Amino acid sequence: MNCSDLEAVAAAMVAKDKGLLAADESTGTIKKRFDKIQLESTEEQRRTYRELLFTTAGISQWISGVILFDETIRQKTRDGVPFPQYLGKLGIIPGIKVDAGAKPLALFPGETITEGLDGLRERLIEYYRLGARFAKWRAVIDIGEGIPTSYAIEANAHALARYAALCQEQNIVPIVEPEVLMDGAHTLPRCEQVTDAVLGAVFTHLAEQRVYLEGMILKPNMVISGKKCPTRAAPEQVAAATLRCLKRHVPAAVPGIAFLSGGQTPAEATEHLSLMNRSKGLPWQLSFSYGRALQDAALAAWGGKAANFAAGQKEFHKWARLNGLARSGAFQPGMEQQAA
Ligand code: 13P
Repeated sequence: MNCSDLEAVAAAMVAKDKGLLAADESTGTIKKRFDKIQLESTEEQRRTYRELLFTTAGISQWISGVILFDETIRQKTRDGVPFPQYLGKLGIIPGIKVDAGAKPLALFPGETITEGLDGLRERLIEYYRLGARFAKWRAVIDIGEGIPTSYAIEANAHALARYAALCQEQNIVPIVEPEVLMDGAHTLPRCEQVTDAVLGAVFTHLAEQRVYLEGMILKPNMVISGKKCPTRAAPEQVAAATLRCLKRHVPAAVPGIAFLSGGQTPAEATEHLSLMNRSKGLPWQLSFSYGRALQDAALAAWGGKAANFAAGQKEFHKWARLNGLARSGAFQPGMEQQAA
C-alpha cells in the first residue's frame, strides 16, 4: 500500500466544487432505468448512454470521478477510445464497482449481505491495470419491523472493511458505502438511530482491519424520513440530523464524505447537500456520488433517441453544475428552473 498515492487520489475525488458520478448500474439495474423510457437494454444502448454522459462538454469542471461497471470499464467511445482513458485525459478519475450485489442473508428474513469478496484481490489487480484508481462496495440496510438486526449490521460492516483493506493493498481507494434505505414509512429519528448503529459498526471494523482512513471515502445515506412516512422532515432537519450523525462517527482523518442520492428527487438531494455545506468548520469535504440525482433528467430527455443526444447531455451538465454549486452551499431551490 502506498499511502501518499491513496491520499492524493482520495483528495482529488472530493476536490473543491466537484463530486462523483455513479454510472455503475449493474446490468439488472440499468435495465430497470431503461424500462422507464421503454428502451431495450442491449450492450450497444448501454454503451451509447454511458458515452452520452462521459462526453458531455465541460463536465470535468464539476465531476472528479466516475464509478464504472465491469462491462463499461471495457467499453470504448464511438471513436475507439477506452472509456477509462477517455475520462483520464479529461482529468476525471475512473473508478469501479466491485461488489457482486446484496443477496438474502440466510436465516435473516428481509435482510441482505453484500457478496463479492472471493477472488476480489485478483479482480482489483485487473481493474488497476484497466485504469481504475478507486472502487465502490455497497452494503444495504433496510428499515422495517424488527430489522435491521445487529447481526446483519455487523456482517455487512465486516465485509465492507474486508473489501476496503483489499483495495488499499492494491493501491485503490475504497469508497465505503453502507446505505440505509429510505424505502418504507419510518421517521427521521428512526433513520438516525439506524444510521448511528451502522456507522458505529463500520468504523469499528475499519479500525480493527487496519484500514487507512486518510485513503478512503465514505459514501453514506443522508438521515432522512422514509419515502412513505406521512410526516416527512424539512430540508433543514435532514441537514442537521445528517451532520449530527456524521460528527459522532466519522473520524476527522477521513478526507471526504460523498453522499448517495438513494431515491431523493434531484432537487432534494442537491438542496440537502447545499444546506450541509453552509456549515462552517467541518473536518471533511462533503460531496456527492449520485446516480439517479445526476442522471434522471438526462435519461428522460434522451429517451434512447439519437436526435435527443444533446438534450440528454444538457440535462446531465445542468445537474452536475447545480451539485457543483451545492459543494460550497451556493445552490438555492428554484435554480433548477432557470436556463442551464
Ligand atoms: P443513487 O444516487 O441513485 O442512490 O446511486 C448511488 C449509488 O452508487 C448507489 O450505490
